[in-house]
Amino acid sequence: MAALADSPAIGEVLTHSGAAPMDPADLTAAAASGVDAMLVTLADRVTPELLATAGPRLALVSTLSVGLDHIALDAAAAAGVAVGYTPHVLTASTADLAVGLSLAALRRFRAGTEASIGGTCPPAWSPDWLLGADLTGATVGIVGLGRIGQAVAKRLAGFDTTLLYAAPREVAAAADLGVGRVGLPELLARSDVVLPLCPASPATAGMFDEAAFRAMKAGSVFVNVARGELVDTAALVRVLVDDWVPGVGLAGAALDVTDPEPLPVGHPLLGCERVFVTPHVGSATAKTRTAMAMMAVGNILAAADGQPLLARVGG
Ligand code: DGY
Repeated sequence: MAALADSPAIGEVLTHSGAAPMDPADLTAAAASGVDAMLVTLADRVTPELLATAGPRLALVSTLSVGLDHIALDAAAAAGVAVGYTPHVLTASTADLAVGLSLAALRRFRAGTEASIGGTCPPAWSPDWLLGADLTGATVGIVGLGRIGQAVAKRLAGFDTTLLYAAPREVAAAADLGVGRVGLPELLARSDVVLPLCPASPATAGMFDEAAFRAMKAGSVFVNVARGELVDTAALVRVLVDDWVPGVGLAGAALDVTDPEPLPVGHPLLGCERVFVTPHVGSATAKTRTAMAMMAVGNILAAADGQPLLARVGG
């Protein structure tokens, strides 16, 4: 917040600190007190009610995220509130994690780690213990080929993968990246790794349901670094835990995002050795989070100076 407070264009700065998100009632109270801009994270919900409470003085919501599913964008547009966000600067870190989690799921990192910690490894190196699948040479299906999807494709080219994507529209960069467009059913049927990299929206909520998971090929893995809301979590539990049969269908998952998030202690996915879970850390490197913070603050400073935002939704 120092950059904000130090700017001559900025008057009073109301702050919230601590690991927990701001209590919604406190956020509402802050909005009601009369603010020109709000800096939020994806843990804050910017609802139509919050925007209405803030009233016409509110000119900008600046979010420390590329995802926008926590913001009522239509209501913001209707109220004339600009929305700033932090694209580009987290693309590399998130794409790196997608590759890492693909390896974690295919190569069964969790089972290996648990056996090592729990002392259940075989007494000596064993030729047929803990066999996974290779990322090298795999077919990888990317659902949504935006910035992060393209960065993942670029990285996976180094693994000699066959790359597929499914998206509502042709993506111009796909040809250069060597990614072939197919329909979702074909992508699910052919991919060894399925990577959703599309935004969460009413149109995509729960798109990975039981039918989608059961359509995936034998030995495949599902890797989510996008949004938990894309997944019907109960369906994933049925397919990967309750009804799972070795050698049949989906073999594992690696989830950086979940619904709910975090999963409650004792959740069946947390108890399953085929599921590798990280706590929404796609952009969690010091370099990337600093760049996101600079951009989110920079959007507010730009607005205060009457300049175009560094990154404005829809503009
Ligand atoms: C975002 O910015 O939307 C990411 O989920 C945070 O890593």
